[in-house]
Amino acid sequence: MSTLKAWVHTLRYEAQDIISVELHPMAGQSLPVFEAGAHIDLHLPGGLVRSYSLANDSQERHRYVLGILRDKASRGGSRAAHEHLRVGMALDISAPRNHFPLHEDAHHSVLIAGGIGITPILSMARRLNALGRSFEVIYLARSRSSAAFVEALRALACPVHWHFDDEAGGPADLRALLAARLPDSNTHHYACGPALMLSAFEQSCEALGHTNAHIERFAAVDIQVADDARPHFTVELRQSGKSFEVTPDTTLHKKLRELHVSVPFSCEEGICGACETRVLEGTPDHRDMVLSSAEHAANTLMMVCVSGCKSERLVLDL
Ligand code: FES
Repeated sequence: MSTLKAWVHTLRYEAQDIISVELHPMAGQSLPVFEAGAHIDLHLPGGLVRSYSLANDSQERHRYVLGILRDKASRGGSRAAHEHLRVGMALDISAPRNHFPLHEDAHHSVLIAGGIGITPILSMARRLNALGRSFEVIYLARSRSSAAFVEALRALACPVHWHFDDEAGGPADLRALLAARLPDSNTHHYACGPALMLSAFEQSCEALGHTNAHIERFAAVDIQVADDARPHFTVELRQSGKSFEVTPDTTLHKKLRELHVSVPFSCEEGICGACETRVLEGTPDHRDMVLSSAEHAANTLMMVCVSGCKSERLVLDL
């Protein structure tokens, strides 16, 4: 995917360990349209590329606003953002991608944010608010001081259920919160936040029969290699005319890196969608959290940073 340039217009303290980064287009240019729930890749000082959700109103064309948590388990991305971004700096970014789309015609929407998961949830809330739709927000955070974008959320005309672990004496009982709401078949539930919260959300929705449940992950979960995955397969790259073998001591991802194949890797954990690649022949062993089960079954796209192969040969549109 090609990149474009934007510059850092504003850096703002939003909450403990969270900054917002407001990016503006270069002079005479505009930023690509985005949908609520979308994210972009940010090319950070030092060469790292990381994906961040957009928090602003999706109708705005003059800026992108990102929320970035200084993550203690950072592999370098959030540290680089917090320590090295400066106002006025020009950065490469990707066009927005959206794997967390909003169903704007739902009768009612329940938006659940855990910590920094507020970023796409805020953009969704802004969109539903602008459309005059029925929705509510459940905002879970460790403390008030660690909750970002609180004033922006308060400015919207929607009910917000706030839960702060330190005041409540522990994490929220998500199942009880969801059970207290009586959705109809056209109610949609969305959640973005830490892995534990998302597991609780998925289990609760399943138990309560909330079928329209959608999640956005910031961290990967372990996905087992399929029993019929091949440790050894041949890869052909149709556009560049290259071919190579993937053997048990390496991976498709490592080989693509070694051969300097142009793939816009970002998270390298199968959660952001940056490395989505068209499959022309063969059967991938999908290990990502981005594509739906229907897309996995179709085998026409794959995330090459984490996935493997179930057939002897894989032909990619690279
Ligand atoms: S680089 Fe993020 S899904 Fe592959």
